[in-house]
Amino acid sequence: MTQHKQGPEEGLPQHIAIIMDGNGRWATARGLSRSEGHKAGSRAVRTIVTRCRELGVTHLTLYAFSQENWGRPKTEIGFLFDLLVSFLRDELPAMERENIRLSVFGDISALPLTSRKALEHAMSRTANNSALHLNLALNYSGRADIVQACRKLAAADTKPEDITEQTISDNLWTAGHPDPDLVIRTSGEIRLSNFLLYQSAYSEFYFTDIQWPDFGSEELDAALATFRSRSRRFGRTEEQKGS
Ligand code: FPP
Repeated sequence: MTQHKQGPEEGLPQHIAIIMDGNGRWATARGLSRSEGHKAGSRAVRTIVTRCRELGVTHLTLYAFSQENWGRPKTEIGFLFDLLVSFLRDELPAMERENIRLSVFGDISALPLTSRKALEHAMSRTANNSALHLNLALNYSGRADIVQACRKLAAADTKPEDITEQTISDNLWTAGHPDPDLVIRTSGEIRLSNFLLYQSAYSEFYFTDIQWPDFGSEELDAALATFRSRSRRFGRTEEQKGS
């Protein structure tokens, strides 16, 4: 994460959410281990965070570990969480310097203790930052998010008539964050895989064959150019859009 100061560009999404897919295939294609792929993936994270900060994107959410990912081999899971700890250790100074606030979407109580502690430390150190909200979806699932929001509302004895789209939003792990304007998925898969299901109702989607470790600033800029070319109508007609 390097220095840069620029105003936000015209037509820039406020919130970009990314399904970072293809680390394994990237590694296999190069005769490397899956761990090497994840390591290269964490370098891509740094590049994209830097580029978003540079452009003036205010919210970036990265799908780093889904609830379904617990089904992977234990050694791979262990490697991913160790990588997260190294990433946080290496990047925290830059986050502090660059006014980046770290948050987590998901249930972190089930995470290995060292990664939980590293996350809590980084979140508290960056809690007052505001230029870029960097959100890691960890032990995340969109359906689980909706379930936990419903449980919170039920536990508070919420009356049926008081349950609205807003009260549900306010109880999701993403509470207080705008819905994603743009959802990107790398590596050629065209699906959402339980990511931000409620929040992506009106998101624009961008799918690319590029594997996550190869997704750099130029690829992000290409996604943003596509985003700018889209006509977002939110269910209205083209004529009504501006009114
Ligand atoms: C998907 O690739 C990627 C993941 C399940 C993990 C995402 C993790 C990183 C990008 C690295 C670490 C992140 C941070 C925030 C430090 P895959 O393994 O499913 O690839 P494949 O489908 O080609 O096997």
